[in-house]
Amino acid sequence: MIADIEQKQAAFAAAAGQAATPDQLKTLRAEYLGKKGFIPQAMKQLRELSPDEKRACGKLINDFKTQVESRLEEIAGALQTTAPRPGSQSTFDPTLPGRKESPGALHPVTRTMDEIISIFISLGFNVEEGPEIESDYYNFEALNIPADHPARDMQDTFYIEDGRVLRTHTSPVQIRVMEKQKPPLRIIAPGRVYRSDSDLTHTPMFHQIEGLMVDKDVSFAHLKGIMDIFLHEVFGKKTKIRFRPSFFPFTCPSAEVDIQCVMCVGKGCRVCSQSGWLEILGAGMVDPAVFQHVDYDPEEWTGLAFGLGIERIAMLKYGVNDIRLFFENDLRFLRQF
Ligand code: FA5
Repeated sequence: MIADIEQKQAAFAAAAGQAATPDQLKTLRAEYLGKKGFIPQAMKQLRELSPDEKRACGKLINDFKTQVESRLEEIAGALQTTAPRPGSQSTFDPTLPGRKESPGALHPVTRTMDEIISIFISLGFNVEEGPEIESDYYNFEALNIPADHPARDMQDTFYIEDGRVLRTHTSPVQIRVMEKQKPPLRIIAPGRVYRSDSDLTHTPMFHQIEGLMVDKDVSFAHLKGIMDIFLHEVFGKKTKIRFRPSFFPFTCPSAEVDIQCVMCVGKGCRVCSQSGWLEILGAGMVDPAVFQHVDYDPEEWTGLAFGLGIERIAMLKYGVNDIRLFFENDLRFLRQF
């Protein structure tokens, strides 16, 4: 019997080396481990042997069984990793057409933002950033908006714990920059801002770019000149722009800048609330009270500041009549840009 077992061991080793399909594996399993297979049958025959033979053959068969089981498991594992996908004959079909590339594109708001940033960089401005969760001090107090000031109602603020806020504008970055840099300086601060507001021209999250220039003898003429260059660069030389007197607690004098509504070319429509104009930015000369918060001498330095809404500019640039479309992530809308 020992000779039989050894012969079968050699036969199994050869057959296992050839097994390359699930069917061949099944046949091998049946031949060696199945009810009528070699190993169970040999175990049955052990009963007829003398105690000494039983011990010797029993060990040999048990070892053979362990060896067969682990080898079959190994083959099954190898077959699984190379198995073709259901329904296909092979894992790789070189005759199939390749997958088409579908290149992504920048979001229109990002494109507008990048374009505006590069215009200001070309005018000598550096880019700065600040946090979106702001303290009351930076968002209001240091910008000359004390707790009881009615101007706090101008911006519908999202308050969070500890009296902190989601910044309502990018103007706090002005303060953070002036705290760490001495004049002269020329910076822009792009970023997200938040207000509880939603309609055709307002969203609860939108993007602003803050601008600040502090130097000796900076005047409103500089502000107007910079805005003119920037807006004509973005919208073309013929675009009509107007400055309206306005109020911001952190600038004096202050202005809002409107651009002729591109939807109705100034005739009046739903988007511009029939006025023919769309407000895109606030601006003014830095109020001396703000300089006092950052230890700048208002007798020595003057500054101009502005804050513009990127989505409003993107709306006008691309003729979008509802600002909320920018944030719905509808691919049919986004693919047009
Ligand atoms: C401000 O936020 C001032 N910090 C701007 C400023 C900076 C003035 C420096 C003076 C000096 P205002 O609230 O007007 O101002 O917002 C500025 C621009 O953001 C608006 O002109 C408009 O284009 C845009 N904007 C305001 N609210 C929304 C909104 N909810 N959704 C989209 N854009 C908005």
